[in-house]
Parts: sequence; structure tokens; C-alpha cells
Amino acid sequence: MYSFSDDTLFRFECLFKQEKRDYKKIISEYNSKKWNDIYEENKNNQITSEIELLNSSYNFCKSDIKFDYSSIEGKVYKANNQDIQNSIFMIKKYIINEIDKYDVNTVIELGAGMCFYSKLIDLHYEGSKEILSYDICPITKDIYKVLFSKNLDTHFNYYDEDSYKFLDKIENKCVIFSNQSIEQIKETKTFINSLKKYKDKIECVINFECLYELKDETNPIFFLQKKYLEKCDYNRDLYSNLKNDNDVEILDLQNNLIPTHLLYNKSIIKWKFK
Ligand SMILES: C[S@@+](CC[C@H](N)C(=O)[O-])C[C@H]1O[C@@H](n2cnc3c(N)ncnc32)[C@H](O)[C@@H]1O
Repeated sequence: MYSFSDDTLFRFECLFKQEKRDYKKIISEYNSKKWNDIYEENKNNQITSEIELLNSSYNFCKSDIKFDYSSIEGKVYKANNQDIQNSIFMIKKYIINEIDKYDVNTVIELGAGMCFYSKLIDLHYEGSKEILSYDICPITKDIYKVLFSKNLDTHFNYYDEDSYKFLDKIENKCVIFSNQSIEQIKETKTFINSLKKYKDKIECVINFECLYELKDETNPIFFLQKKYLEKCDYNRDLYSNLKNDNDVEILDLQNNLIPTHLLYNKSIIKWKFK
């Protein structure tokens, strides 16, 4: 008899209410809660290693985290701390591989929140790369300052074309990535079209995101994942907008590869402008 984790039971409850993902919701969920708690707990700590970073952001040492995961085939299993770390390191390895392949010096994280992945990449390169992190939450600026010991105007809104002007200042080609942040936006045309203006500065874009349109409804877990995306008011058009844009070339697509919880498997989609 399979017994679901508390986290999964909470996710199932989410299937019975409809969220509206507007600015107010995002600020209350992230700025005032999740990122604020992490900031308050860590604002006086210097993060110098991966393990310190994992503990500061995910409390790895403090508890034995239990999640239900589902595999790329949609099979349910119990995840332990090692599985959770594997999901995180899959993302790190993928980004690093691209940075090394293109030999870029500048790496940009959009919707960076607590800057976890930005810092993970920074630690790997021992501070030798320019890592720029942006988010709609004002607290990201404070978190960035603590983690990188420098100031950056981190303000960025996917929906606002002017937000992308920070790319004016980039001198050489960069790699851009997002993890679970495109999920937060209703439409991705502004995102794609705004980046298009800077296509000569972008080597590639890597999104670690759920691809709603590619969830196979004949599998019960992916069917529920689709419903979960609908109920949380998460994005539903990233894949279609990339696929239908004649200026975009999809370079890699690995669907449902990275589990986060039972109702959320991320895909990797890597693309560039032609
Ligand atoms: C689930 S969190 C992921 C954060 C980070 N990428 C990570 O992996 O830890 C989603 C992030 O997207 C940000 N976000 C939501 N709407 C946004 C918008 N319109 N523009 C920029 N960032 C946004 C939120 O503030 C939040 O930090």
C-alpha cells in the first residue's frame, strides 16, 4: 500500500482551489514569505561552499526531507535527500556544460528569487564568471548583495519590455536560464519578443520549466500535473510560443526529466534565436 507524503497531500488539496497568479500573490508568496525567511536566516552568514548553500536554502542537514516524485515515465516513487540533490545537480551540470561549451563569461538567471542557482554556478567557477540575477521581488537585491558581496539592480518583470534593457550593458554573448519562474507568467510572447531584440548577445536560453502542452494526459500522473498547473495558474504557452516562432530554434528538449514533487516534473528546453 503506497502512503503519500504530507507534501503530496497538500498538493492534492491544491487541485481543489483555483489560484490567481497576479503581482499581489507573487509578492506575498515569495517576497514577504519564502525569500524573506531565507534572507532573515542567512543575512549574516557568508556562503562559501555548496553544502552551506544547500543548507541555507533547503535545510538539508536539519531534516530528513520526504517527497513523492514521479519518473520521466510518470511512475511514482519515494524521493530521499539524495534524489532531491540529484534534481538540483542535474540543473547545475546542464548549465555548466553550456557555459563551458560556449565559453561565455556572463550568465543571467531570470526569476532568480533567492539566487540559489546563480550562487551554485558562482561557487563552481569560484567567482570568475559574471553572474547576474533578476526577479520581480525587491528582496532579491538584498539576497544578491549578501551572496555576491556587491550591488546589482535586480529588478526585472517578465511582462515589461523595459525590464530587458539591462542587456544593453552586456558586452559579450551570455547564457540565460530560468528555473521554475516562467511558470509564474501567463504569457511568454513578451519574454520571447523582448529577448529577440538582443539576439546577438544571447548564445542560448535554457528553461527548466514545466511544459504544460507536452504533458501526456493518457498518463494519470501527467494528467494530474496538467490540472495542477491549471489550478496554480502556472504558465501554459511557453512550448507553443517557442515552437511557433520562426526566429527560434529549439536545440534540446527533455520532457518531464526533473521531478520537484509528485505534481511537478520540469522539462529542459534549450533554444536560441536563428
Ligand atoms: C518558484 S520561484 C523560483 C525561484 C528561483 N528560480 C529558484 O529556482 O529558486 C519563482 C520566482 O519567479 C519570480 N517571478 C514571478 N513573476 C515574475 C515576473 N513577472 N517577473 C520576474 N520574476 C517573476 C518570483 O518572484 C519568484 O522569485
